[in-house]
Amino acid sequence: MLPASSTTNKPSNPLQRPRRLRRTATLRRMVRENTLTVDDLIYPMFVTEGEAQLVEIASMPGCYRYSLDLLLKEIAEVSELGINAMPTAVNYALFPVIPENKKDDTGTQSYNPEGLVQQTVKAIKQAIPEIVVITDVALDPFTTHGHDGLVDENGTILNDPTVEVLVKMALSQAAAGADFVAPSDMMDGRVGAIRKALDAEGYINVGILAYSAKYASAYYGPFRDALDSAPKFGDKKTYQMDAANAREALKEIELDIAEGADIIMVKPALAYLDIICRVKSATNLPVAAYNVSGEYAMIKAAAQMGWIDEKQVILESLTSMKRAGADLILTYFAKEVALMLM
Ligand code: PBG
Repeated sequence: MLPASSTTNKPSNPLQRPRRLRRTATLRRMVRENTLTVDDLIYPMFVTEGEAQLVEIASMPGCYRYSLDLLLKEIAEVSELGINAMPTAVNYALFPVIPENKKDDTGTQSYNPEGLVQQTVKAIKQAIPEIVVITDVALDPFTTHGHDGLVDENGTILNDPTVEVLVKMALSQAAAGADFVAPSDMMDGRVGAIRKALDAEGYINVGILAYSAKYASAYYGPFRDALDSAPKFGDKKTYQMDAANAREALKEIELDIAEGADIIMVKPALAYLDIICRVKSATNLPVAAYNVSGEYAMIKAAAQMGWIDEKQVILESLTSMKRAGADLILTYFAKEVALMLM
């Protein structure tokens, strides 16, 4: 060990010593550029039919399919984790697990006014009205083939007929009390069609969180396990974006903004931080990032092997999304992070 550093001035001293600002934890906090707060987190949760059902998702340890009764309990618990007595700092995005016998080719359960999502939204808003509830608009949980849209006999995903169904779905979610509808299907023109329909039906205050730059990603694998919604044929590359493209993301957000989106989203997050950054500088709307299931699974798996410091890796990953420009983060770590930040 060397003796404590000498304070004598030497002529070779650099004038700028960036390490001065890193010397103590207090100094580092003082000059910190980005801070993760629980207010920015949106917690995606999976709801399933029945009662007293709590089934862990194998490829997403710590995430469950909840029946409505247990989902409400969990939401009440997580809502208490808000900082500064904010009643509901963690908000919710909902995904339904639909039994195979209720799926069909055209996803008719998606707009059933008494469907699983619609009932769940009603129950949450009744129990804790301040909570922001965001519902996913896409057909994949509801279709036998697992695609986000209607499919013709050649296996082509049909755009405009799909948009008509998505509009019905969004309206039924708005009627149930959703604060935001979140089209995740990547059909052309769906944001505009949904906005017009919502306005025409008087839902002028229901917002649209648009999955604008949603890539065809292998990182969605565990989510599709969670919903049993993996496509039965082909892939999603004719509607979700090509991972190699960046400028196309700017085109997609420009269209969604013109069509009435309130918040735009980039998805996945970690492998697409450059896209978050470019999107942020191209718009003044809030930008959301989706820390998707595969990103969650990788951290959980490495942590279970004892290969990484789970807590630090979670915080570092989510902070990188904020640094890239995300205002909001959808993350399965929301509850864990809320506990860490308390
Ligand atoms: C449905 C949808 C998907 C995700 C969110 N909404 C799956 C997909 O597009 O195949 C993925 C979320 C995740 O992986 O965490 N369209």
